[in-house]
Amino acid sequence: MTETKKSIHGEWSSRFAFILAATGSAVGLGNIWKFPYITGENGGGAFVIIYLVCILAIGIPIMMAETLMGRRGRQSPINTMKDLAKEAGADENWHLLGWLGVIAGFLILSYYSVIAGWAGAYVLKSVTGSFFDGSAAEIKSLFDSFIASPLQLMFWHTLFMAVTMYVVSQGVKGGIERAVRFLMPSLFFILILMVGYAMSSGGYEQGLEFLFYPDFSEVTGESVLTAMGHAFFTLSLGMGAIMVYGSYLPKGISIGKTAILIAGADTAVALLAGIAIFPIVFANGLEPSSGPGLLFQSLPIAFGNMGGGFIFGTLFFILLVFAALSSSISLIEPAVAWLVENRNMSREMACLWSGVITWLVGLGTVFSFNIGSEFKIFDKTIFDLLDYLTANLMLPIGGFCIAVFAGWIMKAEHTREELAPSAAWHYALWKFLVCFVSPAAVFFVFLNVIGIL
Ligand code: TRP
Repeated sequence: MTETKKSIHGEWSSRFAFILAATGSAVGLGNIWKFPYITGENGGGAFVIIYLVCILAIGIPIMMAETLMGRRGRQSPINTMKDLAKEAGADENWHLLGWLGVIAGFLILSYYSVIAGWAGAYVLKSVTGSFFDGSAAEIKSLFDSFIASPLQLMFWHTLFMAVTMYVVSQGVKGGIERAVRFLMPSLFFILILMVGYAMSSGGYEQGLEFLFYPDFSEVTGESVLTAMGHAFFTLSLGMGAIMVYGSYLPKGISIGKTAILIAGADTAVALLAGIAIFPIVFANGLEPSSGPGLLFQSLPIAFGNMGGGFIFGTLFFILLVFAALSSSISLIEPAVAWLVENRNMSREMACLWSGVITWLVGLGTVFSFNIGSEFKIFDKTIFDLLDYLTANLMLPIGGFCIAVFAGWIMKAEHTREELAPSAAWHYALWKFLVCFVSPAAVFFVFLNVIGIL
């Protein structure tokens, strides 16, 4: 592998562009829709602390590993893994890790698109004044009747998939980079505004107490697994998304600092979303454990009853759609990059095919909320099953292998070279985390869930 090798798909124009794209990938529905509802289902504070520890001890080191592997390999994760394994004199089969990632990306996008579609539908509801003066009960029934309609969900899912595939077809610079430039900062501002509103909603103290006061007696093996899985999910780790973005990263940029920045921004958005949502939940007597509808049943109450709420609501859901979009493009990029490299397809055809397949799988999630809600496998709807399979199993397994590969398989001189401008003890700390802490953490959490520990 030569020093000057560049990705055939193009390169980021600057470090800032990479940070924006990776933050765009990280910040999405995971932060604003999923984090609050799984926190609500898993008892609050203690879950939040476990999640934060996972971000620090597992997320950041693995994010660095993925980025440096991508930058060294310069191709889709499948081919990158092939080359890096060869370079390290390791087994070719490591490229199967790239495949695991491609499949995980498809599966996640299939349901991600459905939920992003909900956000799209809520832009329209907000514009047409559906939340106006709404009571908690009215807002809930608005949501319930919406998800009861397979046709409506299908319409928005289709629209979101089409837009995603169009953006991806435009390529790294044209589509992805331009799309995230203004949107992330705007989303941040509107969340701060919602936190301001939540402070005056009457449930502020209770909301904060729920989020930050840890009661470890509520913690189960499953909730630890969910917290860990979510750390992977929210940082877009374990399936090659960050690896593929790393492959477009020019040499000579500090990977460590960049990873800390991205993880910090991602965590800040999740916590802000929690601080905005839970006060409204408690002030209106909602259940913190209401599941995937939590966001859609809480914030609209605020929008319907605050001055200018119509504008803020519309803006909020528009930004949420864009946050989802900048994440969804990274879910499909590894597959598209591989099709272009190995199947000799044009980027457009690659997008068309992967889009159609993802859309079809997504119908399973559409029906999970209405006509198919009784159809269960292992006591889970298709949506629940896909979510569990990807976030709780595939991503941690992928992350485990990435940590082992970067820590144990790659030559130290190569990882050292990629992390180059960092101090010796920074490198030593990273190495310790990827060699021991991250893999062991994943391993023990799995053992615990299986019931061996
Ligand atoms: N991190 C995104 C979110 O929180 C979702 C996402 C994008 C993702 N790319 C990913 C999750 C890759 C896992 C793997 O909304």
